[in-house]
Formats: sequence, structure tokens, C-alpha cells
Amino acid sequence: MSSKRIGFAGLGLMGSRMAARFLEPGYELSVWNRSVEKCAPLQAKGARVAASPRELAESADVVFSSLADPPAVERLVFAPDGVLQAARPGFRYVETSTISPDLSRRLIEAFRERGADALEAPVTGSKNGAAQGTLVLMTGGRRETHDELLPLLAVLGPKIIYCGEAGSAAVVKLVGNTIISFMLEGLCEGLVVARKAGLPFETLLEVIMASGYASPYFTFKGGAIARRDFEQHFSIDLLVKDQNLMLQEAHVRQAPMPGLAAIREVFQAARAQGHGQADIAAVVQVLERAAGL
Ligand SMILES: NC(=O)c1ccc[n+]([C@@H]2O[C@H](COP(=O)([O-])OP(=O)(O)OC[C@H]3O[C@@H](n4cnc5c(N)ncnc54)[C@H](OP(=O)(O)O)[C@@H]3O)[C@@H](O)[C@H]2O)c1
Repeated sequence: MSSKRIGFAGLGLMGSRMAARFLEPGYELSVWNRSVEKCAPLQAKGARVAASPRELAESADVVFSSLADPPAVERLVFAPDGVLQAARPGFRYVETSTISPDLSRRLIEAFRERGADALEAPVTGSKNGAAQGTLVLMTGGRRETHDELLPLLAVLGPKIIYCGEAGSAAVVKLVGNTIISFMLEGLCEGLVVARKAGLPFETLLEVIMASGYASPYFTFKGGAIARRDFEQHFSIDLLVKDQNLMLQEAHVRQAPMPGLAAIREVFQAARAQGHGQADIAAVVQVLERAAGL
């Protein structure tokens, strides 16, 4: 596998760190990003910069993508200069972005029609996990393609879970971000009430972490809120994108999600108040304001 040429499209918070991981074991790496200046740090480390997604795919055996949302992925794959134009037998495409199950299925089908194949492989673990290669990956598509690409996926993280046919990993990923939404909303609502009741933040967090409902997620986000550190790990804009994708899937499946629908409104308010590009922990500020703090 180390002889495989890797292409990486999308050098945002996650993609820039994931792409960099292929350089250390010696993979030949090409990159593409809409804003070309973000390619410079990887170019300085030896990556080649492609002028278009099509050129990226022409110079790679396997192309990974990490883009913001479904429209960005549509552009990357299906545009006249898109990755699909260079798909050929043996070519592989790995979609790590969080997108809709429907788009996952459509793009996998499109690659198969050209004799190539694709795998959806959404990730969890934030930019720290992307940098350290400790992401959890969920895959969907053909089992054989998952098995074939395992050595490359392992560059990004040690835990790679096959979820089923095309679209299934996207559903699992959206469920995960729904749980994150509930956990963060629960933590933030609780913190605001506790603060109004005069309780120290540390006391609340200590009890949470000693309890049966403890989670590393509460130390990660609770710690950031305690420090008022809202530097972006995962933006409010992108979490709202995922909440919308989940609600859309729930609508299609006729499965009501009243809790998520309500939580989405709080995150939408955060966007309206100018926090869209802040980390998701910044949602606490909306609840603080609403509580008169
Ligand atoms: N951050 C996390 O903790 C995390 C964790 C798991 C999964 N994810 C998912 O991973 C993906 C990337 O997240 P991120 O946090 O790295 O996002 P990000 O930092 O905002 O980066 C987004 C990337 O998408 C590109 N992009 C946006 N719109 C585009 C368009 N219309 N055409 C082409 N390129 C476009 C951006 O290009 P420019 O540089 O030109 O703007 C950038 O490369 C998302 O799907 C996200 O939901 C994120």
C-alpha cells in the first residue's frame, strides 16, 4: 500500500492534519484546496499541489476528501473538472466529510459506474485526533473495498468500524453528532442554572466526572467553557449543517426527533449572534445571554 499515490482534497481544520499524516510514512501526496494558499504548508513538506480536483485524481491512486458540506462535495466530485472525470478501473475515492446518506450513495454509485469504487469514511475525534492519527472512522460501501483500503485508513486512526452498505456510515456519523448536540446542550443548560444558583463550575464538573454519566466529552468541552476558550475545533456552522442533515434523514425515515429540532434552534441562535465560526462550546453564550448573565 505504501506505493499507492495519495490525493487529498480539502485542507481545512481536519483535512490539513489528516493529509499531513500520509507524508510521514512516505506516501507520495498531492493536495487540492479551493483556497490555494492553504496548500503551502504541505507543499513545503513535499506535497504536490494539483490545479483542479480532476488533476488531483489523475495523479493519485486513492483520493481522500475532507470538505465542509454536501454542496462542496458535489462540486469536488461532479463538476466538469471534478474527481469523477479521472475515475478509472482500480481508482478509489474515500469520503471523510460528514454528508447526507443520499449523497454518499450517489457518489459511490457514480464511481462504480466508471469501474472505480468509493468508500464513505466519516470520522470523529476532532482536529487533535486528526493530527495525532487517533480518529475513529466509520465506513460504508463494499466490504472488500473497506478491507482493501484498511492500511490507508489506519494512517488516520486505529479504530475503523465497517457499518454496512453505502449510506450507512453517514447515518451512524449523524447519530453521533446528534448525541454530541444533546450532551453539549445538556451540559450548557445545566452550567447556566448552576451558575445562577451560585454553584462553582468545578464542583459540577467534578460530580459529573465521578458519576455514571461521566464522559471525556464533558472534560473536553467543560474545560474549554471553564477557560472561556472558544477557539475552533468544530464550528457551530458545521454542527448545524449536521443537525439539518440528521433532521432531513429522520423526516425521510418518518422518525420524529423533537429534541434535536429544539436544540438546533439554540445553535441557530448562536449563528444569528455571530458565533457560527466559533467552536461549538460557544453555544453556552446564547444560553447565558438568555438567562440574563
Ligand atoms: N472539525 C471537526 O472536529 C470535525 C470532526 C469530524 C468530522 N468533521 C467533518 O469534516 C469536514 C471538514 O471539517 P473541518 O472542521 O475541517 O471544516 P473547515 O475547517 O471549515 O474546512 C472546510 C473545507 O471545505 C472547503 N470548502 C468549503 N466549501 C467549499 C466549496 N463550496 N467548494 C470547495 N471546497 C469547499 C474549505 O475550503 P477553503 O479553505 O477554500 O474555505 C475547507 O478546505 C466537515 O464535513 C465536518 O463536518 C469535522
